[in-house]
Amino acid sequence: MSKTETKKKSGSGFGSKLGFVLAAAGSAVGLGNIWRFPYLAAKYGGGIFLLIYLILAVTFGFSLMITETALGRRTGKSVIGAYTDVHPKFKLLGWLAAIIPVIITPYYCVIGGWVLKYLTTFAAGNGAEAAGDGAFFTSFIGQTVSPTVFFLIFLALTILVVMLGVEKGIEAISKILMPVLIVLTIGIAVFTLTLDGAAEGVKYYLLPNFQNFTLIDFLKTIAAAMGQLFYSMSLAMGIMVTYGSYMRKEDNLEQSVRQIELFDCGIAILAGLIIVPAVFVFSGGDQSALQAGPSLMFITLPNVFHSMKGGQIVGTAFFILVGLAALTSSISLSETVVSILMEKFRLKRIPAALITAGICLLLGMLSVLGYSAWDNVTIMGKQFLDFFDFISNNIMMPIVALVTCLLIGWVKGTRFVREEVMESANKFKSYVLMHIMLRYVCPVCMVIILLTPFVTDI
Ligand code: PFF
Repeated sequence: MSKTETKKKSGSGFGSKLGFVLAAAGSAVGLGNIWRFPYLAAKYGGGIFLLIYLILAVTFGFSLMITETALGRRTGKSVIGAYTDVHPKFKLLGWLAAIIPVIITPYYCVIGGWVLKYLTTFAAGNGAEAAGDGAFFTSFIGQTVSPTVFFLIFLALTILVVMLGVEKGIEAISKILMPVLIVLTIGIAVFTLTLDGAAEGVKYYLLPNFQNFTLIDFLKTIAAAMGQLFYSMSLAMGIMVTYGSYMRKEDNLEQSVRQIELFDCGIAILAGLIIVPAVFVFSGGDQSALQAGPSLMFITLPNVFHSMKGGQIVGTAFFILVGLAALTSSISLSETVVSILMEKFRLKRIPAALITAGICLLLGMLSVLGYSAWDNVTIMGKQFLDFFDFISNNIMMPIVALVTCLLIGWVKGTRFVREEVMESANKFKSYVLMHIMLRYVCPVCMVIILLTPFVTDI
């Protein structure tokens, strides 16, 4: 395949622009939007976090996303091949980016399995069991067999779609699941917003609260919003390079990236509108209930559903929504690994997918066992799952993003991205913005992200 030929021409890419946008939006919209975004927004001053996140998404997130997608489409390669094509000296960067989905996919599927457990519990009418002080959750993840079974089911679903290929698997499933996901999100949001007392929660969530908000809080909020941006927009881990390599040359790149961004922000904000007011009503306006952090979804929310009329149905619908969002994201993470195996080892799709499943199984079991049989084993004081999350999100992704900015902004030149965008448009409206972002703003932001875990308790 020539350097500028996309995989689409060889018959293994997305069949339409809509297919690309929905698949990439499916990748972006995941646990990050529904589970992580609302609790971060609640922790970092509600509306202030929201505002900062939106500004960063349309500037910083956009610039990185269009760069990665253009890199993929222009080279038509997986993440290792793409970086090597741009500059042979940056081959290592490609490898570093390639390791990230290998680390994330397994534990993401383990959490996907937890979601399936809650979904089946609510669907079977046993939501009451999941309510309480968190004993249900800790006893579930403390077992070995049950979390393994749910993890395997989730992994099998993911790999099955990937085996079917880009157009017949990923694109086809995204075209069905993404509209369902949007309808479910809007439906549940309308329901929770009409609960008595929900308005107070909406105010807390949407209006910036500057009370006791110091400069340090402001910096912490920016760092948290930037971290969330990577996580949520699936940046700096080769996914957008891979999906870009499957994109058709004639489809408008800038418009597509703007649409993906809209999806990602829209679903994150709506997820907050479901969760924050619901928790507010349940706790009688007690803000501390929102500070539950990661356990918000698995401990606080089941209580909320249990206490509301029709909670069994809303709970089921909610966990279907989370499950679908997680599935389309794990598909993109696995596809990135599969594309590397296919290209580097000249494998066919099915063996590459099976090897990916094998790697996920091995690493995923570490995360499962880390909460049960091996709960006394820690790395850098963290359990396996937390450790995988920490090194990928806090260390490796910012490094990949930083070096990518330096490569495109300073070594190769942003013209590289512009030329690719202009393949399918007369104008690149946000070119100057992207240029400034890649050369100056993003590298500084990356250094801040890299340093934050060492200077604060973020
Ligand atoms: N963007 C997806 C999400 O927000 O859940 C998928 C994802 C990719 C999550 C990479 C986390 C991550 F590190």
